[in-house]
Amino acid sequence: SLPPLILGIESSCDDSAAAILRGRDILASVVKGQNALHEAYGGVVPEIAARAHAERLDYCVEQAMQQAGLEYDALDAIAVTAGPGLIGGVLSGVMLAKGLAAGLGKPLIGVNHLAGHALTPRLTDNLDFPYLMLLVSGGHCQFLIVRGPEDFTRVGGTIDDAPGEAFDKTARILGLPQPGGPSVEAEAGNGDEKRFRFPRPLLDREGCDMSFSGLKTAILRQRDSLIAEQGGLHIQDRADICAGFQAAVRDVLTEKTRRAISVYLDEAPGTPAMAVAGGVAANTVLRNALTGLCAEMGLSFSAPPLALCTDNAAMIAHAGAELFAMGIEHDMTLAARPRWPL
Ligand code: KG4
Ligand code: ZN
Repeated sequence: SLPPLILGIESSCDDSAAAILRGRDILASVVKGQNALHEAYGGVVPEIAARAHAERLDYCVEQAMQQAGLEYDALDAIAVTAGPGLIGGVLSGVMLAKGLAAGLGKPLIGVNHLAGHALTPRLTDNLDFPYLMLLVSGGHCQFLIVRGPEDFTRVGGTIDDAPGEAFDKTARILGLPQPGGPSVEAEAGNGDEKRFRFPRPLLDREGCDMSFSGLKTAILRQRDSLIAEQGGLHIQDRADICAGFQAAVRDVLTEKTRRAISVYLDEAPGTPAMAVAGGVAANTVLRNALTGLCAEMGLSFSAPPLALCTDNAAMIAHAGAELFAMGIEHDMTLAARPRWPL
């Protein structure tokens, strides 16, 4: 018999998304971003995000159903992000999912957004538990040992900003477009990472915790001192700052990953594996560094394709499918949770 057909709904930050999965087949995946709506404000405005989700989410679901060529009645379950995230958006998704589940008489499954990211390598690479996950996005940065769909051990993480946030702030300081990750990476490609040496915080400290908030101050200071010296910022200066910044993030993440791998390997997993997820996992320089590290330490390395690294609903449908297979379902009391650590 066919694996269950799952509808996934995601609306925890600034992407409205719906996807339909059967097993590992992504039959449809619709993502409607909101960058244009928030651009003028220099960050995601929760009230605007909530309103946009409420207006677009039903349309995303309808589009996904049409792309998959399916009738609603064919669905076996409805999975929805129930947190963590901006409460207005999460509520929009949860209410839509409850309405669909009640109206169609189908099971409802609440999914943790972070679990969605963390389980993605099982959708793309069929990884076995337990594997080591580096979840690295605009809002999150943590190492997890993933033991099961609901079984995660946090090994360490950022004590302040997430790396994606640091990329976005660096872009803002240098006048590059948002989101900062792709634009800073593109600039860095033309830069010399050795010209400016930015701090590698907490590298001298034991454990897997990280800090990225100091980097933006260092970038700001470097920019201002160049402007004071030269009366402006040259194109090459900007590229060199981006390259130096990206190298600092890469070095911190790589060294802390080395330590997280040691913790994970102490468990003697059958086939040691590491995976990355979250928007920053799209960064090629970081991916290459982690690929090399894993090869050196004897782990396989998985990185999902870009569209499944950033926020999407296929990962939510997949996490929902894993819970559904365990017999987990929720009822109309399912709560939207702004905070929900794994
Ligand atoms: O996972 P995601 O879509 O949303 C959450 O934060 O949950 O990640 C978005 C973040 C943004 O901060 C963006 O700048 C960053 O991922 N990002 C990148 C790259 N592409 C996206 N950071 C570094 N390099 C990239 N190529
Ligand atoms: Zn995310």
